[in-house]
Amino acid sequence: MSAPVITIDGPTASGKGTVAEKLARTLGWAWLDSGALYRLCALQAQREGVDLDDEERVAQIARALRVRFAQGCVELDGHDVTDVLRDESVGNAASRVAVLPAVREALLALQRGFRVAPGLVADGRDMGTVVFPDAELKVFLTASVESRAERRYKQLIEKGFSAKLPDLLRDLQQRDARDANRAVAPLRPAEDAIVIDSTHLDVDATVERVLKAHHARRRRAC
Ligand code: DC
Repeated sequence: MSAPVITIDGPTASGKGTVAEKLARTLGWAWLDSGALYRLCALQAQREGVDLDDEERVAQIARALRVRFAQGCVELDGHDVTDVLRDESVGNAASRVAVLPAVREALLALQRGFRVAPGLVADGRDMGTVVFPDAELKVFLTASVESRAERRYKQLIEKGFSAKLPDLLRDLQQRDARDANRAVAPLRPAEDAIVIDSTHLDVDATVERVLKAHHARRRRAC
């Protein structure tokens, strides 16, 4: 029997990464931040001077990705890239390489390899629709674009980066449109997903809701 999976999909800056990490910690399960894999492909392509629209070469990078997630850090080829990976420019580049079907295909097996006992919490855009269609619980986490831009703004300022709210809002709108309108694995809730709007919920309250849904599912399955 495969290990159980909870998927958390949603738009950029909906808080899904924070919620997924906390949920995984609470359950004692593994956590997959699938967006980090797209960011790594984009970062490596930029470092090698590969055009972000060159599908075959970016797919080659995806197939050769040597990544390690350890204690909240991400390593690429043995080097810590945790901070640079969160850069807005890398996020925008990731959204571009994520439209390439060969890149998505190359990352499928890598993502599925994170499914280990006692369970996996996976966050991204297509975790419930494409990568783990048999997940035990699927969550689609959303929030208004304005509140997401404000959250992202606060995060960046707290980390000492400079940021402008109108620019962030525009970038998020562009990324939402690209993620939702691409031909392969577009961002959308799985048919059997529960939708949580976190515009007025903090992280703890959101995790609480997901846990409640998880326990209810398990009780029903008994
Ligand atoms: O969640 P994030 O901001 O780290 O994701 C970066 C980009 O990667 C995002 O614009 C869309 C893409 N992505 C994707 O297409 N599919 C996923 N499962 C995760 C991320």
